[in-house]
Amino acid sequence: MKKPSILLAIFAFSLFAASSVGLLASEPPNAVQLLARKDLQALGQKIFFDENLSRPAGQSCASCHGVQVGWSGPDLLINQASGIYEGATKGRFSNRKPPSSAYATLSPKLHLGEEGFVGGNFWDGRATGWMLGNPAADQAQGPFLNPVEQNLPDAASVVAKVCAAEYKADFKAQAKAHWGIADICAASGKNPDMAFAIVALAIAAFEHSPAMNAFSSKYDRFLTGKVRLSPLEKKGLELFEGKGKCADCHPSRPGPDGSPPLFTDFTYDNLGFPKNPKNPFYRMPKSINPEGGDWIDRGLGNTLALMPAFAWMAEEAMGLHRVPTLRNIDLRPRPDFTKVYGHNGVFESLELVVDYYNTRDVLPDCAKTKKPKTGINCWPAPEIRANMNTEELGDLKLTREEVKALVSFMKTLSDNYPPKK
Ligand code: HEC
Ligand code: HEC
Repeated sequence: MKKPSILLAIFAFSLFAASSVGLLASEPPNAVQLLARKDLQALGQKIFFDENLSRPAGQSCASCHGVQVGWSGPDLLINQASGIYEGATKGRFSNRKPPSSAYATLSPKLHLGEEGFVGGNFWDGRATGWMLGNPAADQAQGPFLNPVEQNLPDAASVVAKVCAAEYKADFKAQAKAHWGIADICAASGKNPDMAFAIVALAIAAFEHSPAMNAFSSKYDRFLTGKVRLSPLEKKGLELFEGKGKCADCHPSRPGPDGSPPLFTDFTYDNLGFPKNPKNPFYRMPKSINPEGGDWIDRGLGNTLALMPAFAWMAEEAMGLHRVPTLRNIDLRPRPDFTKVYGHNGVFESLELVVDYYNTRDVLPDCAKTKKPKTGINCWPAPEIRANMNTEELGDLKLTREEVKALVSFMKTLSDNYPPKK
C-alpha cells in the first residue's frame, strides 16, 4: 500500500500503542503458548467440526472451510454459482469468499508497520487479535453470532451448546487445566464471556495444529531437498520471485530462523479486482445489505473507519484487502473441481488471476468493448480505483508459457504431498 506520511504514522502509532496497553491488561497472558497445547487443539478440532453449533443446526466451521480444498469453500455447486457461501438460514448469504482457515493463526495482531497496516484476520483485518491475543482466536467468535453464518443469538447460546455436547467433559477439563476454573459450565451462567473466549482459543489452537498448518507441500519437500521440481515448476518459481514480482507480497523463501515461508506478508493492497456480479449479497434484503446492488466492498478502509484511533486513515485504505496465503491455493478433490479466487470469488481459475496481474492495465474496460471477452480482449472495471497498486502489477509482459509456469508452480503449494490415491 501507499506509505502514509512519517509524522502521521508516528502519531497513529502512539495512539495505537496507548490503546493496546489497555487491551493488553485484559488479554489472557499466554495465548501463544496456549495455541501450541495438544490437548486444547484436540478440543478445538471437535468444536470446529460440530454441526450443532448453528441455528438451525447443520452448519459447522468445516461447512465453509473443508480440508479437501485446503480449508476453504468445499461446496462445488456454490463455487460454480458464485463462491459466496450460504449461512445456516436458507437463502441468507454473506458477502465474501471464505479464505483458507489454514496458516491464519500465524498472522500477527493488526498493527501499523513502516509501510502500512499488517496482520489481523479476515480479508479486511477486522479480527485484530487485540481481544484474545491472536487474530484467529478473535476471528473464531465471529461466525457463531453472524446472522449470515451460524446465526446463534449470543455468546451464552454458543456456550450452552458446547456445555451440552458429547465433548463437554473435555471442555470442562481444559478450562480447569489452563484457566483454573473448577466448573466452567456452571460458572458461565453468570458470565458466558470467559467460556466463549475459551471456545475461541480452543478453535484457534486446532487451527494452529499440524492438522491444519501442515507445511507438507511438494514445495516444502523441495526446500528441504527431498524432491525436485519439474522444469516448468522451476521456471514458475523463478518468475514468481523475479519478473512476476509475486514474492514481493507472497514471500516464498524460509525466514532467517529457517521457518518455512507463508506466501503472505500479511500486508494490505488494492489490486483493483472487479466486482463479482454473481455475488448473491447484492440481492439480500435491506436488513442484511442496506446498500443493495450499489454495495461496494471497502475492505480495510471500512475496518479503519470504525476505529476511533484510525478513522482518519480509512480513506487511503479503501479497497485494500489482506494478502492471502497461496498455500493450498490449487488443492481440490479432482482436477475439474471449481475453486474461485479473490476476496469476492470473481476469478474462476488461477490462470485468470495471473492473466489479470499480467494485463490489467493493457486491455480496455469491458464496458467499452464490442463483444467483450473477460481476460481475452478486456477486463471489467476495478471495484475501487482509488489506492490501486500500479507499481507491482498490471502490465507484467508475461508470455502464455510464463503464465502457465506460474500456475504450475502454485500447484506445488498443496499440502499432503504426495497426494493419496
Ligand atoms: C457460512 C460460511 C462460513 C462459516 C460457517 C465459517 N466461515 Fe470462516 N470465513 C468465511 C468467510 C466468507 C470468510 C471471509 C470473511 C471476511 O473476510 O469478511 C471467513 C474467514 C475465516 C478466517 C480468516 C482467515 C484469514 O486468513 O483471514 C478464519 C480463520 C475462519 N474463517 C475460520 C472459521 C471458523 C473457526 C469458523 C467456525 C467458528 C468459521 N470460519 C465458520 C465463511 C465461513
Ligand atoms: C502488491 C502485492 C501483491 C503482489 C505483487 C501479488 N499479489 Fe497476489 N494477492 C495480493 C492481494 C492483496 C490479494 C487479494 C486481492 C483481493 O482479493 O482483492 C492477492 C490474491 C492473489 C490470489 C488469489 C488468492 C485467493 O485466495 O483467492 C492469487 C492466486 C495470487 N494473488 C497470486 C499471485 C501471483 C501469481 C502473483 C505474481 C504474478 C501475485 N499474486 C502478486 C497481493 C499481491
